[in-house]
Amino acid sequence: MSKRELVIPSNDLLAINENVIEEIRIENEGFEKQYGRKKKFFIITYGCQMNEHDSEKLRASVERMGYQLTFVYEDADLIIVNTCCVRENAELKVYGKIGTFKPLKQKNPNLIIAICGCMMQQQHVVEEIKKKYRHVDVVFGTHNVHNFPSLLKDAYTQKNTVVQVWDIDGEVIEGLDSHRKYELKAYVNIMYGCNNFCTYCIVPYTRGRERSREKEVILAEIRDLVKNGTKEVTLLGQNVNSYGKTLSQPVSFDELLEEVAQVEGLKRIKFMTSHPKDLSRHVLDVMAKYDNVSSYLHLPVQAGSNALLKAMNRNYTRESYMETIRYAKEHIPNLTISTDLIIGFPGETEEDIEMLIDLIKEVRYDSAFTFIYSQRKGTPADEMENQIPEDIKHVRFNKVLEALNEIIIEKNLQLKDEVVEILVENYSEKDQTLMGRTDGNRTVHFKGDESLIGEFVSIKITEPKKFSLYGEIVEV
Ligand code: SAH
Ligand code: SF4
Ligand code: F3S
Repeated sequence: MSKRELVIPSNDLLAINENVIEEIRIENEGFEKQYGRKKKFFIITYGCQMNEHDSEKLRASVERMGYQLTFVYEDADLIIVNTCCVRENAELKVYGKIGTFKPLKQKNPNLIIAICGCMMQQQHVVEEIKKKYRHVDVVFGTHNVHNFPSLLKDAYTQKNTVVQVWDIDGEVIEGLDSHRKYELKAYVNIMYGCNNFCTYCIVPYTRGRERSREKEVILAEIRDLVKNGTKEVTLLGQNVNSYGKTLSQPVSFDELLEEVAQVEGLKRIKFMTSHPKDLSRHVLDVMAKYDNVSSYLHLPVQAGSNALLKAMNRNYTRESYMETIRYAKEHIPNLTISTDLIIGFPGETEEDIEMLIDLIKEVRYDSAFTFIYSQRKGTPADEMENQIPEDIKHVRFNKVLEALNEIIIEKNLQLKDEVVEILVENYSEKDQTLMGRTDGNRTVHFKGDESLIGEFVSIKITEPKKFSLYGEIVEV
């Protein structure tokens, strides 16, 4: 990171990059005239919606430079890999993928390979890439997405790997187009970064400190989306419940959610992720008050015992978590709940697992994301002594999964003959089946015409299976 770059105000940086986009576009036009084809780009995204969203921005700027999207990486003139490092297997996948790109350079020496995302925020990863993956041309971090056009330009003229990874927290940079994948459903970032430093988690180191977007900017984006046909938005942040604290005029998440709910024409609003320490009753009240705020609550508990929650630095107790769940169940009709769980955190005992299973049975989750603990360099838990052996982690993981599945299957089977309203999302040509989701985020499959995509329809569940629901359209 150079100091000079840090003092360039973001508006100037955007203007510089606008000029570069134009320069590269003209060059690419020349290429097209000479070779009778457009240059092509391939982009692959790992990780969460934060990365998905950054990829949308990258895709928009690359398309403006005149590159054409391809799904065949062998055909590409520009490859972008947006990486995740939340768990070790995510990183291993990325290294594997970058390796497969090496031979492509022999066929197309002008190919540019750019690697970005959370993995690049770690110094040791950048060193590894520079040393062992010399075919990579550009490396940039999560705070440098807006500067990609300039980095690409450098890569065309420079022999060495172009590296730009700012470890500052970054400011919120507005005004970048994004190429949205689903017009029907859109993700809207309301904040970036995380201040929580859960002891197992790398995200605060890769995404920097928490910062919120201005409420009016968010609302304007949502109104615009709705005008262009979006029916559902998901408000995104690592901890949406602490939204607005960093703004010059602080706004709370429930205030934002209430205003979003009032956007005319917006049919469904989801949000994630909620942190149990910050989820206020006001938010649950807004969920109960507005029909278009989804009754789906994703509330990661991570562990079932206070000892582990403390060691994880989660800052809530099992009791306060259960108190929130009770309030939500009491006030929100048709509430569905999901969670994230970590199995095998250092020091975890059989008793901790029993307590977790007990909690699962009490909450009765509708779905859950269960992860085996993965040591992450630079996090406090990585230094903890009592790491759990892999084989024990797996035995415990299966035990927890069994308890979860029993409940999830039971809840699914209970839905037989119920009528649910779903938003139709997509159509499978192969079996002429439509897929949609209920307000509570359950997936439902049924026969119907493709023209129903984007519509709300009532479905009677005729065939609830263990992990999926099948039904028929009913007239109501
Ligand atoms: N901000 C969100 C999501 C963070 S990452 C939240 O706080 O819930 C998504 C999930 O990955 C986490 O909820 C956690 O369950 C899991 N996770 C994060 N770091 C992990 C690690 N080192 N090992 C295993 N799972 C991890
Ligand atoms: Fe990671 Fe915790 Fe922040 Fe979620 S709240 S991103 S788990 S540090
Ligand atoms: Fe992965 Fe970064 Fe998201 S580490 S989970 S892509 S914030």
